[in-house]
Amino acid sequence: MRKPLIAGNWKMYKTPKESLAFLDAFLPMVEGHDRDEIVVCPTMSSLAYVIEHAEGTNVRAGAQNMHWLNEGPYTSQTSPTMLVSIGCRHVLLGHSELRLYFNETYERVNLKLKAAINHGITPIVCVGELLAEREDGKTEETLRTQVRAALRNISANEARRLVIAYEPIWAIGTGSTASPEVASEAHAIIRAELSRCCGQQTADNTRILYGGSVKPENITSLMAQEDIDGALVGGASLVPTTFAEIVHY
Ligand code: PGA
Repeated sequence: MRKPLIAGNWKMYKTPKESLAFLDAFLPMVEGHDRDEIVVCPTMSSLAYVIEHAEGTNVRAGAQNMHWLNEGPYTSQTSPTMLVSIGCRHVLLGHSELRLYFNETYERVNLKLKAAINHGITPIVCVGELLAEREDGKTEETLRTQVRAALRNISANEARRLVIAYEPIWAIGTGSTASPEVASEAHAIIRAELSRCCGQQTADNTRILYGGSVKPENITSLMAQEDIDGALVGGASLVPTTFAEIVHY
């Protein structure tokens, strides 16, 4: 009942030309694949091109961030209406790299989440603990706080399209993946908090992706876990054959 979602986060990689070359190689490799939803998230400079190039295929393109307002004097920002105007229907919110390097807060993630919902954009909200928090036994507290802050004043009806990505910060780009058991445990914590915030039905329906050094070698055992409904893939989503292998887990 929860269709798995495999999303690629290209971060600050690939020019428009490189993005289109990726698609030319990747689209035939996943043609007709319907078991999972497939999304790639290029940089803003490539997004419109990628959406246009992938039109009519089973691959969608999402943004890596957005502002919550429709327009205004906010240099460097892109608004939800601008995303919708180019056919963008997915957005990553609260990625840990934004939280670590650009002072993103869950208060803002909450505003962005509301805006995404209001504009019919599927939000992929990232949560995850630091290594120090895990070592201090604070994983549960951290995840619960993050989920609660992101979902403040969001109703069950509004949360219908919500996707959460569990991305332990110590696993991102480090090559060390959370074991399926560790990831599963975190996903269960997140699902329980979703239930407290928006009810059991929302918790049951919300897809929770795992992210952090996902590779063709570990995707199968991760996806075998009942609570893992997909993956948010960074580095390994940059190479068409590798990302296709992950999609075909
Ligand atoms: P990684 O990145 O797969 O390169 O660890 C995941 C992410 O940051 O979303």
